[in-house]
Amino acid sequence: MSMEPKEILEQDQFEELIQGLMDHDYGCCDDFILPSTVNGLRANIQRLKASGEMMSSGVGNKSGFQKNKSIRGDQINWIGDQSIDPFEMIYLKKIQGFIAHLNSTCFTSIKSFESHYSSYEKKNFYARHLDQFKTEKGRKFSIVMYLNKDWQEKDGGMLALHPKGQGQINISPMGGRMVFFRSDEMEHEVQASDTRERRSVAGWLKN
Ligand code: OGA
Ligand code: MN
Repeated sequence: MSMEPKEILEQDQFEELIQGLMDHDYGCCDDFILPSTVNGLRANIQRLKASGEMMSSGVGNKSGFQKNKSIRGDQINWIGDQSIDPFEMIYLKKIQGFIAHLNSTCFTSIKSFESHYSSYEKKNFYARHLDQFKTEKGRKFSIVMYLNKDWQEKDGGMLALHPKGQGQINISPMGGRMVFFRSDEMEHEVQASDTRERRSVAGWLKN
């Protein structure tokens, strides 16, 4: 079976994420989506903000949900899986492709997927946490994709990963970058930016 150049590139990106996870507990792939898609998704957040549809996030799930800005300061909006927004459709299709690749090469049996936009205003953060809830174990892998244009190291807003038995890893939220890790094992935090709003799409692969 022959593959288009685009499919070959996608397979390489998926492999880069998986290889990173196997080698050092997280995968990171730059330019995971095209700048035009990054721009479109970022503009969606802007529009959602303007129409008051970005909502203060909470901590925990249905059985223990609370809002607490001293733990988590972002605003979110969930992306529906039947979305007809062109940029969301590109994103969802790509993640579907990644799930298919994972399931066929790593026996992961991922069955569903959920994701939301996040916006952290300046000075807001998300304290160190795990993405898997104590009462609901469905989340297996976390993926975070960044939507920030011309982000500089000095802008801060790092994703700090705390892999077990290793030093802290800091990842700058550069537009187009995708990060991948296990929801039940990788403790992580979002550090505040003192200079800019920080935008991303966070997603979880579930079984
Ligand atoms: C989360 C999260 C990381 C990031 O939303 O659970 O940890 O870098 N996000 O935005
Ligand atoms: Mn998280």
